[in-house]
Amino acid sequence: MAHAEKPPVQINLLVCGGGNGAHVLTGLASSRPGVKVNVLSLFADEAERWRNKLADQYFVVQFKEKDGTSDIITSRPNMITNDPQKAVPGCNLIIFTVPAFAHEGYFKAIAPYIEPNTVIVGLPSQPGFQFQCCDLLGIAGKTCAIVSFESLPWACRIETFGRMVQVLGPKDTLACSIINRGCRSLFPILPTIQYVVGKEPKLTEAANYLSINLLADAVVHPPMMYGTWKDWDGQPMAEKPLFYQGLSEFCAEMLDKVSNELVATAKAIHQKYPDMDMSDVIHLFDWYKLNYKDSIADMSSLRMAMKTCSAYNGLCHPMKETPDGKFVPDFHYRYMTEDIPFGMVVFRGIAELAGVATPAMDETLYWGQKILGKEFLVDGKLEGKDMGMTRAPQRFHFHSLFDLVNLR
Ligand code: NAI
Repeated sequence: MAHAEKPPVQINLLVCGGGNGAHVLTGLASSRPGVKVNVLSLFADEAERWRNKLADQYFVVQFKEKDGTSDIITSRPNMITNDPQKAVPGCNLIIFTVPAFAHEGYFKAIAPYIEPNTVIVGLPSQPGFQFQCCDLLGIAGKTCAIVSFESLPWACRIETFGRMVQVLGPKDTLACSIINRGCRSLFPILPTIQYVVGKEPKLTEAANYLSINLLADAVVHPPMMYGTWKDWDGQPMAEKPLFYQGLSEFCAEMLDKVSNELVATAKAIHQKYPDMDMSDVIHLFDWYKLNYKDSIADMSSLRMAMKTCSAYNGLCHPMKETPDGKFVPDFHYRYMTEDIPFGMVVFRGIAELAGVATPAMDETLYWGQKILGKEFLVDGKLEGKDMGMTRAPQRFHFHSLFDLVNLR
């Protein structure tokens, strides 16, 4: 595997997390010359379990390349701990690779130990990462660059916890935004992350952080959950329904409408602030045409494109099994618990500040918040009692488009 050029200084990388993505990142980064990796997991006894499981063995990444060949990458991280006081000092690059609901705990844990001019990365960031980062990182955090990636670089899963992880395939390209905030980093930011991640996917920089927020993966799941389960009678089902291949006309219409609302939001931002290049924000159908053109059999409509995308073959709705072997929807899966408070509520908040009406997002949110037992949207305003658990800009005192475009 060829790599980008080695950075000019030693990289002391902190990986925050302990799941699939954190396993891959830890294994790849530890194998790069000039990169020292500390892993911080705050989840239960995960760090201890990982440390004990690895013991004095090598950690293994099985990396399936696009051409079907596989690489075996072995390495050892420098440290795996749940103690931020040990893990954070001296780190010049910090990468969060953990679901968004866990970010707040990591920001709070690292804040007292973070050094000026550190580069903080969300891989993926999920919407609102930047607002939370500015809010929680304190004085030293003010000179930290914030890098937000639209997704994870790989489809991956842990094979043996703490010992071996599989990369099922890297993406072709992956976009990020960089808010520099006067960070005087001693290494070039994007080439260094590319060096750590490896040659694929090709990392690119989007025009600004608002584009990355409006582009997030999270756009797809809540409208599809809503469209599929809004009229569910509560009866267990004999089989798990297919998530993409079973896409209904109604779900596709909802996705189209939500996507139009996001594009309208991007246009409104550009209209009021012409310097903000929002052209990265495109309709979901156009996104499929760009990113999955070789995998889609029928490109005649958004619905058919999603139904016939071979990358999604066999993917089912998140379901829980009942004692008698039937299935009910799992509304605690991240399509709801992550993609509503850290996805759709953030989109809705940005749209509100841009003055764009969002009837389709609102319809989805009213249903989703009821299912989650939360209250975000009340009478068309993001003023519900549970807004404090979301990452909408309003929660972090961004009250106008001016505030949003001036986050630098
Ligand atoms: P994961 O599902 O493996 O994350 C589990 C980890 O989250 C745990 O190991 C633990 O470290 C942490 N965690 C779980 N519950 C917690 C709690 N209550 N408190 C604190 N920490 C807790 O996540 P994965 O697969 O690594 O994904 C990371 C992000 O990348 C997610 O946002 C996911 O949506 C996204 N993503 C993942 C892909 C994949 O192939 N795995 C593909 C595309 C995106």
